[in-house]
Amino acid sequence: MAFAMKYFVRTYGCQMNVADSNEMARHLRARGFSATADPDDASIFLVNTCTVRQHAEDRAFSEIGRLRRWKAARPDRKVVVTGCAAERTRVFLERRFPHIDLVAGARSIESFGEAVDRLLSNRPTDESLDYAAGSPDGRVADFVTIMRGCNYSCAYCIVPYVRGRESYRPMGEILDEVRERVDEGVRDVTLLGQTVNSYHRDGRAGRNTDFADLLEAVGEVDGVERVRFISPHPFYMTDRVIEAMAAVPAVCEGLHLPVQSGSDAVLGAMRRNYTREGYLDLVGKLRRAMPGIVLSTDVIAGFPGETEDDFRHTLSLLEAVGFDWCFVFKYSPRQGTPAAERPAWPEALVEERHRVCLDLAEGIGRERRRRLVGTIQDVLVEGDGAGRTRGNYKVQIDGRAAAGSTVPVRVSNADRVTLEGERVDIAVGASSDPPSSCVTLARSPSP
Ligand code: SAH
Ligand code: SF4
Ligand code: F3S
Repeated sequence: MAFAMKYFVRTYGCQMNVADSNEMARHLRARGFSATADPDDASIFLVNTCTVRQHAEDRAFSEIGRLRRWKAARPDRKVVVTGCAAERTRVFLERRFPHIDLVAGARSIESFGEAVDRLLSNRPTDESLDYAAGSPDGRVADFVTIMRGCNYSCAYCIVPYVRGRESYRPMGEILDEVRERVDEGVRDVTLLGQTVNSYHRDGRAGRNTDFADLLEAVGEVDGVERVRFISPHPFYMTDRVIEAMAAVPAVCEGLHLPVQSGSDAVLGAMRRNYTREGYLDLVGKLRRAMPGIVLSTDVIAGFPGETEDDFRHTLSLLEAVGFDWCFVFKYSPRQGTPAAERPAWPEALVEERHRVCLDLAEGIGRERRRRLVGTIQDVLVEGDGAGRTRGNYKVQIDGRAAAGSTVPVRVSNADRVTLEGERVDIAVGASSDPPSSCVTLARSPSP
C-alpha cells in the first residue's frame, strides 16, 4: 500500500505549544506532507505534549498509549512525540511506549526538521517549499513567537526546566514573520512568550530594544489591525509598556496578567517577585491608561502552605480587580520544583478551594459581561459568523459577516462566556444593499 503523505497533530498545553505545532507542521509540509483531520488517513501522528500539571501529562500519555493500535494497523506509520512532557520524560517515554518512532522535546524545536529527515531517511526535502506558509487554513488571528524559555523560577513551575533560559528573536525576524502572516490574511497578531514582556535585544547606539519598542513596531506593520501578547509577567509591566499599549492604536485593550495568588506570603513562597499591592497598583495604572480594558488572570488554588487566610486574600483580590475571566488551577506538584518538596494539602481541600475560587470568578465574570450588553463592539470576524472584540471576548454574530472584516456589533446576550450580538451597520430594510460577501439579518426587530 502506498505511504499516505498525511499528518495528524494533537496539541496539549498552552499557546506556545500551539505555535510550536504550527512550526513543526510547516516542516512536515516542506517534506511533501499535508494535514488531515482524520488520524486513519495519516501516516504521521504527532502528539505535542504538556507537563505543566500532572493532569495535562496524563492525558497526553493515554493518547500515546492508544496509538499502539494505530501503529500496529500500518507498521510504516510514524508516532512522533514532542513538547514539554517529551522534554521532561524522554527516557520513560521510550521505555514505556516502544511504538514511538521519534521523541523530540520542547528544547529541540529548532532541529525538528533534521530529526524528521532522519526519521524518514530516504524522503526528499525541499525546505523552501511552503515553509513560510504559516496559516494554510486562512487564519485571521495567529501567534508569532518572540521569545522562548523563562528566566523565572516560580516555586511550583516546571516550565523553566523543560523550556530552558530565555532567548529573544531579533526584531527584524519577528517583523518579517508578521509581514508574512499579514500577506496570508492574518489581521490579529498575538506575540508569544513565557514572560513575553521581558523581551529585549541589543540595539544600535548602545540602546536596548525593549518590549514597548516591539509593540510599536508590530503595530506599525501595514495590515496589522490588532496586536495582543501572552503571557506577560507583572514584573515587566513597566510604565513604558503600559504607555505603548495605550498609545499604539493596534494594541488591544485586553490583558491576561497571571496573578497566581492574592496573599503576599504565598506570592513570596511562589517567588513571583511582586506583592498584592504592586499588582493592584498595576491594575490601577492599566485602567487609567485604558479605561474599559478587559483583564483576565491565572490563579493556583491550594499551593503548599496556603492558609485559609491566604486563600481569602486571593478571593478578595479577585473581587478588588474584577477580572473579566480567570483560569483557576488546582496546585499540582511537579517533581524537581521547590514547592514539590513541601507537604501538599489533602486533595479534598485543594478541590474545595478550586471550586470556591472558580464560583467566585464566574460570578465576577458574569457581572463584567453584563455591562457589555447594549454596547457596540468592533468585532474582527474569524469565520462562521464569530469573531472577537478588541478586549478578546468571543462574539457570535447574528447574521453573516465575512472572515477578516471588522464589523460593529451590538451585544445582545452575555449570559455565556461567548457573547451574542447583532451587526449595527446593516439594518433590516436599509436603503442600500450590503455587499454580497456580508449579507445579513433576516431578523425580527426586538420588542
Ligand atoms: N509563563 C506564564 C504561565 C505558564 S503556565 C506565566 O508566568 O504567566 C500557565 C499557568 O499554569 C500559570 O500561570 C499557573 O497559574 C499554572 N501553573 C503552572 N504550574 C502549575 C502547577 N504546578 N500547578 C498548578 N498550576 C500551575
Ligand atoms: Fe513558570 Fe513562573 Fe516562568 Fe511563568 S514566569 S513560566 S509561572 S516559572
Ligand atoms: Fe505546558 Fe509547556 Fe506550555 S508545560 S503550559 S505546553 S510551556
